[in-house]
Amino acid sequence: MLSKLAFLASFVAAVSANPVFRSLVVHEQRENAPDGFVMIGAAPANKMLNLRLALVNSDMAGLENSLYAVSTPGSALYGQHLTKEEVEAFVKPSSDSVSIVNQFLAANDIQANTISPAGDWLAFSIPVSKANEIFDADFSVFQHVQTGRQSVRTLTYSIPTELVGHLNLVHPTITFENPFANLPVVSSPLKAVAAAQNLTSRQSTPSSCKTLVTPSCLQDLYGIPTTLATQSSSTLGVSGFIDQFANKADLTSFLRAQRPDLPSSTTFTLQTLDGGSNPQSASEAGVEANLDTQYTVGIASGVPTVFISVGDDFHDGNLEGFLDIINFLLGESDPPHVLTTSYGQNENTISRSLATQLCNAYMQLGARGTSILFASGDGGVSGSQSGSCSAFLPTFPSGCPFMTSVGATTGVTETAADFSSGGFSNFFATPSYQSAAVSSFLSALGSTNSGRFNRSGRAFPDVSAQGENVEIVVGGETGTVAGTSCASPIFASVIALLNDRLVAAGKSPLGFLNPFLYSAAGTAALNDVTSGSNPGCNTNGFTARAGWDPVTGLGTPNFAKLLTAVGL
Ligand SMILES: *[C@@H]1O[C@H](CO)[C@@H](O)[C@H](O)[C@H]1NC(C)=O
Ligand SMILES: *[C@@H]1O[C@H](CO)[C@@H](O)[C@H](O)[C@H]1NC(C)=O
Repeated sequence: MLSKLAFLASFVAAVSANPVFRSLVVHEQRENAPDGFVMIGAAPANKMLNLRLALVNSDMAGLENSLYAVSTPGSALYGQHLTKEEVEAFVKPSSDSVSIVNQFLAANDIQANTISPAGDWLAFSIPVSKANEIFDADFSVFQHVQTGRQSVRTLTYSIPTELVGHLNLVHPTITFENPFANLPVVSSPLKAVAAAQNLTSRQSTPSSCKTLVTPSCLQDLYGIPTTLATQSSSTLGVSGFIDQFANKADLTSFLRAQRPDLPSSTTFTLQTLDGGSNPQSASEAGVEANLDTQYTVGIASGVPTVFISVGDDFHDGNLEGFLDIINFLLGESDPPHVLTTSYGQNENTISRSLATQLCNAYMQLGARGTSILFASGDGGVSGSQSGSCSAFLPTFPSGCPFMTSVGATTGVTETAADFSSGGFSNFFATPSYQSAAVSSFLSALGSTNSGRFNRSGRAFPDVSAQGENVEIVVGGETGTVAGTSCASPIFASVIALLNDRLVAAGKSPLGFLNPFLYSAAGTAALNDVTSGSNPGCNTNGFTARAGWDPVTGLGTPNFAKLLTAVGL
């Protein structure tokens, strides 16, 4: 009896010393669903939601300083990329954050799993009714009118005051699905032109990129060497999403026609995550995946290339594997030295804190020494796909300062491809590495397009490469495609070949590229593109001009000059 009372007394004391999680404060909200979505009604109370929590990281500002120190030519630490453990020390949440978030979960009978190497992301499933209660949310069914796709989201949610400063965000909540997730960023469909361009009967491939873009014309245009890379440790990763499969037989046909000088065994290797696969039947060959593998393996001669196929068992909710692939690579002891991704979406569908969290994942991989390149998008100033808009739509992740965004050009006196997305982020401020280049552009621009874009935002693309009339093989048929999807693997291949030479010379790979690209030496090693524009939103968009511009960035690669610029 006595002991029971004593127990009770101490129990009461413990409870009152512990957080109660009763007072909630609004954490994120948006006024309306993004354009194109309508609310249909309340979500069923018993529907299970797969939620993720992002905990506040220990020291992202410290990691950002380290990233710039190892990525800025001339810095004492240039090239001294961080180890997995060094990155994780910056990223892992503090023990206070882990403890308070665990107490909150335990108080609500929730068991969570860690889904990132540094422990900053947790995942769990709870019914809508419970999510509405503990986060003071209003989970509802939203439908995307054009595609009919439905998803459960809330326009607002709150977190207990005790978690403020410990919890970055709850996801998926106010971030909406990318309605066009099923469309790769390829603007013109593959045409079956096998008869006109019979691979087996063709005598020679054109050496000029004037009407048709092939590996040999790109080698000519950009001075890309045909000699084989020598460093097996310096790898090139190609992201694969949305059941886009890369076909090896198509690659072999492509190489036989375009690169007969390469060993006949030349191919890519495969990594999978989230239940990903890479089936090889001709009918399952994906335009995007074939383009991305043919314009890496076919240009980065001899560089070990890995196709990373992300399946549909996402751990990152409606990010469709975008976070998972980075966490997967962060978990490796030797991530690829270059990663190219030809997928993206409009920035306005993502919440600012989620975009920041993803961007910080790129910061981590960059600090490890990976060059991260993304296609800038194919809708000109109207975003990832052309569409109607009043204000210009920046794309994600091109607005993130810790990656390299690649726009597109066309022709042999290169001019901007008119679909090449470019502009200014509404989430991320202009990073210092580009502030001089961007402010020159803005001064020259004057008041054109005033009010349609955010002058203080991170500007993109950073660079560009050919993106029209690009010949590929899909399902045994030859055709041409267009899009910034072509440009990112081409530019990534140039970087991979530079890395091969650097590693062979006992130096570090380039890692996060932008401080180098915007340096005087980097800029001078690119072909400035000064004509063309990227119309959209019922405007002429931006116009390419001397120096950096939001259509073609700093320009296209000149391999010989880049070799000198990186000190070889
Ligand atoms: C391609 O050329 C070969 C040899 O000339 C011929 O047999 C074949 O029918 C041609 N294929 C097409 C699709 O034209
Ligand atoms: C403009 O960009 C800055 C980041 O540089 C951001 O803080 C601000 O909210 C943006 N403005 C709008 C209206 O989106």
